[in-house]
Amino acid sequence: MGFKDNIRRKENISIIGFMGSGKSTAGKILAKKIGFLYIDIDTVIELSEGMKISRIFEEKGESYFRKVESEVIYKIYNNTGCVFSCGGGVILNEKNMDMIKKSSIVVFLSVNAETVFERLKDEENRPLLARGDREKIIKDMLDFRQPLYLKYSDIAIDANSITPNEAAKKIIGEIKLKINS
Ligand code: S3P
Repeated sequence: MGFKDNIRRKENISIIGFMGSGKSTAGKILAKKIGFLYIDIDTVIELSEGMKISRIFEEKGESYFRKVESEVIYKIYNNTGCVFSCGGGVILNEKNMDMIKKSSIVVFLSVNAETVFERLKDEENRPLLARGDREKIIKDMLDFRQPLYLKYSDIAIDANSITPNEAAKKIIGEIKLKINS
C-alpha cells in the first residue's frame, strides 16, 4: 500500500497551531506535494460570511465567530483527501477537535512567542492581537494554548526556524514514520 493510500485511511490532514506558525503556507505546499485539496478554514468562514475575519470580530464579536467556525468545520469535514489549515483558536472547542480528529491526522506547527511577534509585526487581519500590548497578548495566549495544541496533535513539529517548504517535507516524513511504525 502506498503513502497516499495509507494517509487515506485517516482521509485528511489538519494543521493546527498559533497565528503565524505558517499553517497556511506549509499546508498549501503539502497539499500540492501529495495531491490533496488544500482548504483554509478561515477563508471558508470569510467566504460564507462575505467579510474579512477582522470585520466579523468587529461587527459581530468573537463568540459569533466561534459559532461560525464550528459550523464550517462540521460542514467541510465530510470531505476526504484534504489538507485543512485551521484557525489558531480551533483547539478552544473540544467538539471542533472531536470532529477534526475523526477523519484527520492532526499536525501541530509549534512556534514560540518571539517568532509569532516577529512574523506578525505588520499584520492587520488578526483581531485578537489588536487588543493591547501585542507581545504580552501573544505570550499569554500561547501559554494557555500550548498544552491544548499538544493534547490534540498526532505529530508536533518545531516550526520556529524552518521554511514552509521544509515544514511540508517534515510533515510528510513524520507521517511516513508514523505509518511505518
Ligand atoms: C484566531 C486565529 C486566526 C483566526 C481568528 C482567531 C485565534 O487564524 O481564526 O483571528 O483565535 O488564534 P490563524 O491562526 O490562521 O491566523
